[in-house]
Parts: sequence; C-alpha cells; structure tokens
Amino acid sequence: MLLQKSLLVATLVSFVHCIPAASALYKRAALDDWIANETSTALAGILANAGYNGAKAYGANQGLLLASPSTTNPDYFFTWTRDSALVFKSLVDRFIATGDSNLQVEINDYISAQAKLQTVSNPSGSFSDGSGLGEPKYEPDGTAFTGDWGRPQRDGPALRATALIAYGRWLQSNGYSDAATNIVWPIVKNDLTYVAQYWNQTGFDLWEEVKGSSFFTTAAQHRALVEGSAFAASVGSSCASCDSQAPQALCLLQQYWNGQYIVSNINVNIARTGKDANSILSSLHTFDPSAGCDDTTFQPCSPRMLANHKAVTDSFRSVYSINSGIAASTGVAVGRYSEDVYYNGNPWYLATLAAAEQLYSALYQYNKAGSITITSTSLSFWKAIYSSAATGTYASGSSTYSALTSAMKTYADGYVAIVEKYTPSNGGLAEQFDRNNGAPLSAVDLTWSYAAFLTMSAARSNSVPASWGAASANKVPSACAASSATGSYTAATNTNWPSFPCTIATSVQQTFNVLTTTVPGQDIYVVGSISALGSWDTAKAIKLDAGRYRSDLPLWYGSVTLSAGTAFEYKYIRKEGSSVTWESDPNRSYTVPKTCRTSAAARDSWQG
Ligand code: NOJ
Ligand code: NOJ
Repeated sequence: MLLQKSLLVATLVSFVHCIPAASALYKRAALDDWIANETSTALAGILANAGYNGAKAYGANQGLLLASPSTTNPDYFFTWTRDSALVFKSLVDRFIATGDSNLQVEINDYISAQAKLQTVSNPSGSFSDGSGLGEPKYEPDGTAFTGDWGRPQRDGPALRATALIAYGRWLQSNGYSDAATNIVWPIVKNDLTYVAQYWNQTGFDLWEEVKGSSFFTTAAQHRALVEGSAFAASVGSSCASCDSQAPQALCLLQQYWNGQYIVSNINVNIARTGKDANSILSSLHTFDPSAGCDDTTFQPCSPRMLANHKAVTDSFRSVYSINSGIAASTGVAVGRYSEDVYYNGNPWYLATLAAAEQLYSALYQYNKAGSITITSTSLSFWKAIYSSAATGTYASGSSTYSALTSAMKTYADGYVAIVEKYTPSNGGLAEQFDRNNGAPLSAVDLTWSYAAFLTMSAARSNSVPASWGAASANKVPSACAASSATGSYTAATNTNWPSFPCTIATSVQQTFNVLTTTVPGQDIYVVGSISALGSWDTAKAIKLDAGRYRSDLPLWYGSVTLSAGTAFEYKYIRKEGSSVTWESDPNRSYTVPKTCRTSAAARDSWQG
C-alpha cells in the first residue's frame, strides 16, 4: 500500500519528465478508479431496465428485461432473447462471485418469465415444433411482436440455455438440486432441442440484418450443445441429440476461418470483408478457463482468435475519425463492422469492451498454462504490440513472457480507456458513440452495454466464469455433415422456487410512476412527508420525467433512494410557471418494502 502510494507520488512528480513506465502506472491506477465507479452505475443501469420494479421499466412484466428504455429513435422497448440471455449470464456469474441476493431474485424472475415466453406463438412459428423459439424479440408484456423483423434469429435459445445452465450448476452445488432438475432443466431442454434441430438452418445474424450462417450463432450453439449434454446427465436425464449434433456444429464453426481471420457471415451474398465484432463477441462464449489455447474452439488465447482480433480491430482504425492518430499498438474504438450504416456506422461500447475482454481472458489462459506460444498465425498480432516478438514458446518467469503479457494488458486497457473517454460523466452507456466526436448515440442505457462492462471488468480482475467443457469438445470430424436431430417440446410449468436465504435490502431505489395527461409547459412532481420528498414543500418536490409520455400512456416517472421500511405519505403535483396544482385528497400512504429487492415501484393514476 505504502509502496503504491509513493509510486503514485513519484509518477506525479516525474510526469513533466515524461517517464513512460511511470505514466503507464499512473494511467492504470486512474483506469482502476473509473472501473470501480462505473461498476455500480452499470449494475444499477441493468436493474433499472428489468421489469417490473426497474426504475425505467414501467410496462415490462416481471422478469422481462428491456433492451433499453428508449421508445423512439430507436424503439428498443422490447425484450430480446439474445440481449436478455447475455445480460443474465453476466448477472448469474456476478451472483456466483458475490452472493448478492438481490441478483438472485432477478435471476429467478427471469427464468420464470422464460418458461412462459417459450410457449408464445409468434411470427417465427409456434412452440409445438420449436420454430417459435427462434423469435428475436417480444413485447415487454410478454406477448408476440408482430411487426416485420429479421427473423428467425437462432442464437437466442443457445444463449439462454447457457445462462440457465450456469445458474442450474450453482443450484446443484448449493443444495438446490431439485430446483435445477424441476425448474431449470425443463426450460433448458426445450432450448437444446431447438438448437439440435435447427442449428444447420440459416437465420438472421446477431445484428438482425443478414440471413445466412453467423459465426456468433454457431459458436453459441456448439457451446450450448456441449454443456447441455453434461447438464442433462447431471439432472439424471440425457441429451442424445446434443451429443450427435455438437461435433457437426464444431465442424461448421471451422468453415468461417479463411486462414487469416473469421468471416463472420457465410452462406450469404453480401459485399463485405466479413471482419466483424461478431467474432470478437463470440470469444466471450467460446472462452473456457479450463481449456488451452485451442484453435478449433476459438479460445480467446488461440492463435486464430488473436489474428482475428487484429484483423477486426484494425478494420476500424481508418474508418472512424476518433481513431485517427492512434498507434497500431494502442486500443481503438470498435464498431460492428466497418461497412455498417446503422446510425451512419459508429463504434459500439459493447464491441470496444469485448475487444478488451478477449485479451484479459487470454491473459488468464496464459497464466494458467504457464506459457505463451507465438505461431505464424498470431505473429502479426504480437508484433503490433511488442515489436521484437518472434515465433516460439515462452515460459512464465522468462523476461519475454513478462514483456508479452504486460504489452497485452496495456493494449487491453487501451480499449477500456477509449470507453472511459467517451462515457459521459453520469456513467450512462448508450449503444453507440459518434465516429467523429465520440458523443453517445442511438439507444440510451443499453442494457447489453452495461453487461458488457461488467463482464469486461470481471475478466480484467481474473474473476472467470465456469468451464463449459471445451477441452473435451475440440475434435473436429473429418467431414462435415448437414445434420439435424428432431425432438419434442414440452411447456415448462414449474416456477415454484424454494425460499433462498437473502440479505434484506437496507436502501431501495423507489420509483414513482403516475399516469396523468399534461400539456406542454406543465410538469409533474412528487412531494411527500419525508425529507427525501421535500417534506411537503412544493419547492423541494422531485421532478418526474416525461421521456416516455405518449397520449395513450401519459407516463411521468422518477425515483429516489429511500431506506427500506420507511413509511410516508405523498401526492403528485402539477406545476405550470409559478402555479402549483395538487391532486385531490386523500394523501397516498406508502411503506418502502423491506425485502431482498433493492428496487420497488409505485404505479399510480392522478387523483383528480
Ligand atoms: C434494427 C436492428 O436492430 C439493427 O441491428 C439494424 O442495423 C437496423 N435495424 C437496420 O436494419
Ligand atoms: C440492435 C442490435 O444489432 C442487436 O444485436 C440487438 O439485439 C438489438 N439492437 C437490441 O439491443
């Protein structure tokens, strides 16, 4: 501690002399601070978008997670199967690492909601033949979305199976095997049946634009089939179609590799290079902390994945002006793919964070293996960040190993530093940031952006997710077959969770939602008997937000942090210029719930 402090002081003093090693240390400490702060913002940002207690989630059912609270330009007020599964996988891993019981409540709600969602008929199809499971998004109340869309998207069921299996494994290890068997497994089983049946059919990619085969989807499917088989066995069942299809999915996975990088979309006819953050994001679910640097399963530390990292990230260096002048050895802003035109094509927070996360995960793998092997495939990646890199194997403890790992850590931190630079001071993470000036763009508070931050930060601190069995699922069949295994689908109906011990929340984010029609110039406030609500002083009332106001849903909402158990009275008031109108009597009475939940929402209509 003392040593660190004096190093910091030395850094500050020597800053004018530009001692590079010291300034790198100084930067790292500053980045550490930012990450620590942003972690609570990211977690709160996710929970705010979770129905139905979330501060920004009025209208979303219990357990359904919004992609973003944004309802126009773009309208993301839906629940996507992909986004939700990725976010909940991050929450499950965080719950396992921290024991935060509030997260467990949210996870249980999510799983219960998915049991029902699986059965909803939609434009992709129905539940009876599984086709409906490929539907990408639903209305926030859990009904089908019937507008035009790029459908089906076949990554959703695979990603959901992975998220649920992670939680199922925790249940089994903590004395709740019955819940794993009777609640989690029936849902997972349907998703695995879907993957085994449809993995070899084309569908829309994760960006919802291209119909073909997508690396991200195939990678997620392979993983789900492999861990699904083992999970089936652990609940006393089996998944024969997982076993028959997984090697074939792995076979298809190899076909995206063109010798230099991953061509993210194949079996399509599009004018693109194929370099796409699709593949870097895939490294987040190919990552297995127990695997070596296997090329066939595209581990983060594999020569192929490193070559791909360079090809994809370099493709953004010249297209975004905010990247101009950044050296090849330094992280840059990363988008979906360089030809992207969505909102004119910009960097995405989640893609830039994933570029860092792949490298932190790779560092974990090198450390575990005790060496780094540079091959002709990965050489150009290494040379860009460490110019004297050469092919060979470098054992930990050697000076080359230290130099390589330290260069990789600095390089990874560079991507996070870009995200820090373009994150507004309130910590809010939108979907994109402007390619020319870095200003946040498109959907605000993108739930997936926050989850991408949390998983990056976990990887950076060596908190890794569980193994999925990659080390024994890396043998590629000598010939690929276009196969499929057909199964049957049964509605999962048991959502009767055991009572888990939980920590009663002391402080609660209390949201007030009120429906009341207003005209421009009028604002709605909440005022009440406690000081946090202005102690009945209308000048100290809390102003509500009309960002989601519509004529058919005249919603005003806002939240304050209160102590659990606080009892108070309140009312809504309308202000227009200096005039204040109170809603009619009686005063409303409320007690902040004292449960394991850290958020609560009141839903009111103006008394008038
Ligand atoms: C909305 C999709 O979500 C997005 O990924 C896509 O780029 C645009 N539509 C344009 O097709
Ligand atoms: C558009 C993105 O392209 C897609 O991946 C995502 O699922 C939706 N937005 C919702 O966040």
